Amino acid sequence: MRAAESFISAYGRVPTVRWTAPGRVNLIGEHTDYNDGFVLPFALPHDIVAAAAKVPNPVWTVVSEGVDERVTFTVDDLEPGKVEGWAAYVAGVVWALREAGHEIGGADLALASDVPVGSGLSSSAALECSVMGALCELYGVALDEETGPKLAQRAENAYVGAPTGILDQSASIRCREGHALFLDCRTGEAEHVPFDLAAHGLSVLIIDTRAPHRHVDGEYAARRADCEKAAEALGLRALRDLTLDGLDGALARLDGDVARRRVRHVVTENQRVLHTVGLLRAGIEPHRLGELLTESHASMRDDYEITVGEVDLAASAAVEAGAYGARMTGGGFGGCVIALCETARSAEIAAAVHKAFVDAGYTPPATFPAVASAGSRVLG
Ligand code: GLA
Repeated sequence: MRAAESFISAYGRVPTVRWTAPGRVNLIGEHTDYNDGFVLPFALPHDIVAAAAKVPNPVWTVVSEGVDERVTFTVDDLEPGKVEGWAAYVAGVVWALREAGHEIGGADLALASDVPVGSGLSSSAALECSVMGALCELYGVALDEETGPKLAQRAENAYVGAPTGILDQSASIRCREGHALFLDCRTGEAEHVPFDLAAHGLSVLIIDTRAPHRHVDGEYAARRADCEKAAEALGLRALRDLTLDGLDGALARLDGDVARRRVRHVVTENQRVLHTVGLLRAGIEPHRLGELLTESHASMRDDYEITVGEVDLAASAAVEAGAYGARMTGGGFGGCVIALCETARSAEIAAAVHKAFVDAGYTPPATFPAVASAGSRVLG
């Protein structure tokens, strides 16, 4: 009810709609989405709630719990670059919806968030998707499961200016409780794969390293450009079209070690997603699943070069303390590590990681369990 309360205190009336959208963990499949590849996220119980009500004119006002600022924008501001900071995500969603021809009028909005910001748990997508859901509910717009994520992604790419893929918005909108979302980012086809770790005495522990993101935007865009260049050099539409069988031959045709390592990450990571899905469909085999997570981490560290000291330490310390496997999740350069643990041992593993951080002189991480939760929906 926090979003509703802040709505009442900001606008002196009650909201007519509340819409929630979650953050996510990506179990495996990192930096594969913009290569038309495969991802396997699940939604978290941590969410952003947008409370909203219509206003008669095309004017949007937004407040956010804990932020001492009220942002108002009009139709004249619905051009990329006009609204900046956190409110750009809100303006971007209004812009993307209206650009796509949806009749979205003015609104007052209040936001309340439980998703840690800057941790790679996708707080931006949760923000976009909660606002999008609230506005569509207010104005009677129904978006299908593929269009919603695409419009939210467009808000982020074209309005906010971050060249991200479709992973986060798809996870926030399409995930289901107790399931991971196996998504083919080229076709938009999805399978909800049962992911009931508790039934196997297992948990995914999130280790938020709180490592500050370094040069994130530039590095992300640079990785994306490396992949596009390599695909072009290989005459492929996207790196998705390269499979493990053709990998060695393709690597021999590429110039430079960096290009080869980027390509190897994407191709092997797609393969690891397919393996993981196979394992989940067959019932969870924690040793093999853990190995895949750890292999993914090594590939991100050595080939894709998107990890930092804190995440490498979190992943290795978790495995040394008895986790089946661990990997960084999300865009990289800081953020969170996920570790597959026996639930009975997860407190001990968290304590060992904590100690390793203290010993290394790093700020201790926050740790909490990841429970596969529901996607974006109306709360009333
Ligand atoms: C960020 C982006 C996603 C995806 C991941 C890496 O979260 O928003 O589109 O590329 O990084 O897998």
